[in-house]
Amino acid sequence: MTATKSDASIETGGKAAAEAIHIENLHKSFGNLHVLKGVSLSARDGEVVAIIGGSGSGKSTLLRCINCLENPSSGLIRVNGEEIRLKPDGHGGSVPADRRQIERIRSRLGMVFQSFNLWSHMTLLENVIEVPIHVLGVGRDEAVAVAEKLLERVGLADKRNVYPAFMSGGQQQRGAIARALAIQPRVMLFDEPTSALDPELVGEVLKVIADLAQEGRTMVLVTHEMKFARRVATHVVYLYNGLVEEEGPPEQIFGAPKSERLKQFLRNIH
Ligand SMILES: Nc1ncnc2c1ncn2[C@@H]1O[C@H](COP(=O)(O)OP(=O)(O)OP(=O)(O)O)[C@@H](O)[C@H]1O
Ligand SMILES: [Mg+2]
Repeated sequence: MTATKSDASIETGGKAAAEAIHIENLHKSFGNLHVLKGVSLSARDGEVVAIIGGSGSGKSTLLRCINCLENPSSGLIRVNGEEIRLKPDGHGGSVPADRRQIERIRSRLGMVFQSFNLWSHMTLLENVIEVPIHVLGVGRDEAVAVAEKLLERVGLADKRNVYPAFMSGGQQQRGAIARALAIQPRVMLFDEPTSALDPELVGEVLKVIADLAQEGRTMVLVTHEMKFARRVATHVVYLYNGLVEEEGPPEQIFGAPKSERLKQFLRNIH
């Protein structure tokens, strides 16, 4: 399917908000396990899409398909208006048809995972400048200047020369956010960024993410922090067993859920 002006943008208050992410009828199987069963969703510029759902419902798999860390079995994914091109792998699955396209798409997405994934053999500053310098070809001075601003923003200016092992989990995760932002991504993808943290460190990381939402940064966020999702999301998607069971604005999803499964899920999580 080719992108047209009408499906790539909508009129919001007279201003067109382009789609940063568009997913249609996405299926993903691991062997016989059918994990995603026809998921469609989109994130327009400035939107914060929160994905919620029980363990094993396919949230991480969905996010990993957007970032090309998993190859969909079928369906369509468009990032920045560009459709990810896949070809059959000969075993009933698919592989990227164009590696360069995958690199280009990844270079516009900032991904922050559940476990802190800073490179342990580099200082925090080195972590943040690595991709801009070595992948994107940014000059060292410029990369350092951008990194310093980002570290300041996530409250880690004083940790620039520190190795991850000497930082708390919350600091490492804020560092991972700075590193993801350093590529100036069009969209930030978060996969349960606070679930591996000690409870007292959750707030500082959520604050950084909330600030990004406030600035109008486009985000797709898998989270089990329901109060947080309610506060920062513009759109919430409830995934159940590989399908979108219900979606809508946070007031609807958390305040007036329609699906019995969603009601049950929200009852159990509180
Ligand atoms: N690489 C893989 N190989 C085989 N099965 C996988 C793989 N990755 C995920 N799965 C399976 O796919 C299903 C969905 O996993 P996924 O990680 O997407 O769930 P999730 O919604 O993120 O769950 P959680 O809330 O626990 O993180 C699970 O049954 C999981 O075991
Ligand atoms: Mg997960």
